[in-house]
Amino acid sequence: MSTQAFAWSKTKAGDNTANREFACDVRIGLAKPQKELHSKYLYDELGSSLFEAITHLPEYGLTRADERLLRRHADDIAGLLPSRVAVIELGSGVGQKTRHLLQAIGGDCLRYYPIDVSADALARCEHDLSDIAEVHPLVQSYLDGMARATAERQPGESFLVMFLGSTIGNFERNCALEFLRDLRASLLPGDMLLIGADLVKEPGRMLVAYDDPTGVTGAFNLNLLGRINRELGGDFQLRDFEHQARWNEPQRRIEMHLRSRLNQTAYIAEADLTVTFRAGETIWTESSHKFQLPELDGMAEQAAFSVDDQWIDPDWPFAENLWAVR
Ligand SMILES: C[S@@+](CC[C@H](N)C(=O)[O-])C[C@H]1O[C@@H](n2cnc3c(N)ncnc32)[C@H](O)[C@@H]1O
Repeated sequence: MSTQAFAWSKTKAGDNTANREFACDVRIGLAKPQKELHSKYLYDELGSSLFEAITHLPEYGLTRADERLLRRHADDIAGLLPSRVAVIELGSGVGQKTRHLLQAIGGDCLRYYPIDVSADALARCEHDLSDIAEVHPLVQSYLDGMARATAERQPGESFLVMFLGSTIGNFERNCALEFLRDLRASLLPGDMLLIGADLVKEPGRMLVAYDDPTGVTGAFNLNLLGRINRELGGDFQLRDFEHQARWNEPQRRIEMHLRSRLNQTAYIAEADLTVTFRAGETIWTESSHKFQLPELDGMAEQAAFSVDDQWIDPDWPFAENLWAVR
């Protein structure tokens, strides 16, 4: 799924603009031979709450591994940072795991800029973390938010950018590299990137993390059609679609799809679009690429970062990587 093909990359200028961009992306995505919807649209208010529920599922070991690494190594990470630092977090969500590191960095007026498309998640983040940092939430997409946050750089100050939860895995591999290069271009020598990446493991273990028996991930996925109904006047019958998670071995990624249970038609008023589905046809809604260790070092190198340190969780193979701007 290409992150480039979608119109929705600009700052939210208002609900109407955001709705027009959403409608435009839906029109583009559903016209493709393999129908697709961009994963960023999974995160409205309900979607963000469902994602948070996913992080508590026993099958979704990823968040707990990320959290364990941050808790265990917060002091080591803080010790490797420049002395005057402000923190930016991309796709922070509610920022729960970030507390460990903010606490370890400490200081009287540590500035923290969480960037996320979900205003509701950011409101929780600000509420929960304002006891340990000066929180400046930015309801924006990643690079727009970066431009806003880095404009606040003070003389002699460096930035630590955090990109946790293996969210980098939501990009196609070539787009991930392009994104890291863009990110690097917005930074200065002395700045650092802490990036979490989920590692390839047995397919069965990965698949159940994205297809839990409780059905929470299914609800998270189906909510995207519910969101189209609510915000764009769609008439999708949610019960006529089912959640599907697939392991794509050659691409080393989990794909989430919504599979039509029958031949059907849906109408989306604000996109002025009628879309037909054959029984078994799917809409591809998210990819979660999994990584191998040498590949991560290669990505750092190609995006002009140097690898400072790396921590790996032994129970759920996951790597926390600290890269410095070269
Ligand atoms: C997989 S969740 C990870 C949340 C959290 N960082 C964690 O590790 O649990 C991805 C987060 O990124 C946000 N997000 C997705 N696409 C985004 C984009 N293009 N710009 C900004 N935020 C985005 C979502 O709203 C969501 O909170």
